Amino acid sequence: MVDVILGLQWGDEGKGKIVDYFAPRYDIIARFQGGPNAGHTLYVQDKKIVLHQIPSGIFHQKTTNLIGNGVVLDPVTFKRECESVAAFGVDYRKNLLISQRAHLIVPTHRALDKASEVSKGNDKIGSTLKGIGPAYMDKTGRNGLRVGDLLDKNFTTQYIRLRLKHQRLLDGLNFHEDISEWEEEFFEALEFMRGFKIVNGEYFINEQIRQGKTVLAEGAQGSMLDVDFGTFPFVTSSNTISAGVCTGLGVPPQQIRDVIGVSKAYCTRVGSGPFPTELFDATGEDLRKTGSEFGATTGRPRRCGWIDLVALKFACMVNGVTKIVMTKADVLDAFEELKVCTAYKINGEQTSEVPFQMSKVPIEPLLESFQGWKSDITSLKNYDTLPVRMKEYVGFINNYLHVPISYISNGPGRDQLIENL
Ligand code: GDP
Ligand code: IMO
Ligand code: MG
Repeated sequence: MVDVILGLQWGDEGKGKIVDYFAPRYDIIARFQGGPNAGHTLYVQDKKIVLHQIPSGIFHQKTTNLIGNGVVLDPVTFKRECESVAAFGVDYRKNLLISQRAHLIVPTHRALDKASEVSKGNDKIGSTLKGIGPAYMDKTGRNGLRVGDLLDKNFTTQYIRLRLKHQRLLDGLNFHEDISEWEEEFFEALEFMRGFKIVNGEYFINEQIRQGKTVLAEGAQGSMLDVDFGTFPFVTSSNTISAGVCTGLGVPPQQIRDVIGVSKAYCTRVGSGPFPTELFDATGEDLRKTGSEFGATTGRPRRCGWIDLVALKFACMVNGVTKIVMTKADVLDAFEELKVCTAYKINGEQTSEVPFQMSKVPIEPLLESFQGWKSDITSLKNYDTLPVRMKEYVGFINNYLHVPISYISNGPGRDQLIENL
């Protein structure tokens, strides 16, 4: 049996914290897509840690963590991350497995990412520049190197061949950067990776499921960044939605039980692209400040706005969401007035559907207004004790989406989660 936790907006919904909270209930936590573009923040022993590629179950001794075949893995970032979790006393080699089918991010992928963004000028995607797009291009273009190739004696030859190919592309883009330093680190990190349990992930996970073990699949990014269903071309290069679990781990769809969607009580986006409810005024600034909305991977300020129910309903539909976790509800504690987008107006027409080319049409969000609850909810433990106005806000969203908001997160801490089951 597999449950899934994934983001319903443009990423950074608080997935890391939620996976860490639920991890003790599962035997295996598995990442199924994305790579070091992800930044999942956890608080362990009151200390903050940001995970990029290691699944967020790593701090629970009894949990096995799997990096699935759908992930693109950067050995350099991975080594650094392992060192940072080791500082918490985690024996990462014991509980961390890597699928041999996961693709590798090589130094020239990062250079290509940068070159591609530079060549796009004002139309740039706002990529995290971690080499994600080029690595997935090499996967679908059938050129990439995989983790299992590390154990092949011809690995270096294969690597050089790929680098030459990339070099020609970089020359074509007139991009010249010395990558020799990156390469040195890369080869050191490859050696480090060879010491890991590199497994046949799909056999491993299916055998575990057969034995009755439970799996929690951890999504990265968010549904509106999905390469098929997101705000293309301002998206990432993987399927972030629940369908990505099947291809990214090798589990059949019948094994998926709950799809737990994580959404902020408002909305943020980092990087370029459409964001209909974005606020450019003092209220947006307030959200950014109160919510500490700065990227966990790049440190960039996140764009902030009201919750967008049109986009959220779309995300619930394509994912088959069964439960919602509303995070960062406490960030709204001091706001006088809250707004919720219930429809879009496009060229004079009202719609509650996400348009095909969100980036090409002018979207005016139609907003409903709510009174803020104006009280501190950070230490509350029970749904019943939440302020009435907050229950109205949650109830409205619940009714609109027809999916229960089963959990409300009221602070970044592990214990700040209110059940509403
Ligand atoms: P992820 O990428 O979805 O894991 O989310 P990030 O870690 O990038 O961003 C979420 C940020 O919000 C982190 O700094 C978390 O510590 C913080 N956070 C998570 N849940 C809550 C919450 O309920 N309230 C507050 N105030 N912060 C939260
Ligand atoms: P987590 O898992 C928020 C955004 C980038 C950019 C676009 C493409 O922490 O939620 P890429 O590096 O994939 O080429 O960037 O996607 N992006 C994210 N935004 N959270 C993330 O991950 C993101 N990963 C990528 O900002 O707009
Ligand atoms: Mg993040």
